[in-house]
Amino acid sequence: MTTHQIKVALGDRSYAVLVGHGVINQLETMLPKSAKRAVVITQKNVALQPKLKIPSTTIVIGDGEEHKNMQTIEMIAEKFAEFGLTRNDVVIGVGGGMVTDIAGFAAASWHRGTAVVHVATSLVGMVDAAIGGKTGVNIAQGKNLVGAFWQPSGVICDLDALETLPQREMRCGLGEVAKYHFLTGDDLLALEMSERIARCVEIKARIVAADERESGGRALLNYGHTLAHALERSSNFSLAHGEAVAVGMIFAAHLAHAMQRIGTPRVEEHYRVIGETYGLKVKPDEKIERRELIDLMHHDKKAVSGLTFVLDGPSGIEIVSGVAEAHLMQAFDAMQLNEK
Ligand code: GLY
Repeated sequence: MTTHQIKVALGDRSYAVLVGHGVINQLETMLPKSAKRAVVITQKNVALQPKLKIPSTTIVIGDGEEHKNMQTIEMIAEKFAEFGLTRNDVVIGVGGGMVTDIAGFAAASWHRGTAVVHVATSLVGMVDAAIGGKTGVNIAQGKNLVGAFWQPSGVICDLDALETLPQREMRCGLGEVAKYHFLTGDDLLALEMSERIARCVEIKARIVAADERESGGRALLNYGHTLAHALERSSNFSLAHGEAVAVGMIFAAHLAHAMQRIGTPRVEEHYRVIGETYGLKVKPDEKIERRELIDLMHHDKKAVSGLTFVLDGPSGIEIVSGVAEAHLMQAFDAMQLNEK
């Protein structure tokens, strides 16, 4: 069976992403030579678990975004200390995006930086979250507001994990795949699964290599995410990330239209690709409250000079700052969301 190996080119911090069936068996090759012991961070329903030759212990963190917080990091750090994890050892995050974000942040903070390897077991993790070194946790004011850039030493995307992935989580992953569709124009659904994931990893690896710390082009990976993060928070995370990204891209299309950056056919294309091709919901079932969403969007990490969105336009998708609330209102009107 084909294994794809994609390099994230970051000089002496470059690393490989392996995509294929059974690639978890190659995990040992990604561990730093200095590692004498490992701490695996995972969740209870994660399908794959590594078999390690070096001594290890496993920390199982809670399911659900309410556990993606500083308390979990503190709990993990205390377990690292009890186990005697040193800076030469390794942390292994095994799970979806929440696990790898937390494992990455715990590793970044432990002794001011300990190696981490990610084993992504969800589609969102494989095509996005586990790649590129963004780590972090939520606070009451917003998602992922506390974190660090900390590149892994390697990433494993073992397709065996997808065989038992719940349908809803697969759909969430498709929300991120649809994002790459709009960023590149690639017909990703035409590819078979391992090719599709490898292609998404290649797109992301190229963007991260060019702008590791999001001072420019990497921010495009947040297409649909400004509203998505606010929707996730306001729904108390009953709306999952990928579902919210799908709705967020529809909103971004209406916003770009309200700002006369794109015409109606391009908005319709968003509905066709997201709703029909990818089969994703184009608006949430839950009722929303505009004011609450706008307030949450003001706390977005991108909002350094007023409300900031990634928007489509005549020169393609780009960052747009200082978006007027009047345009947001027009976009909300056009989406005909159920309002509280
Ligand atoms: N998930 C967006 C990024 O890694 O930049």
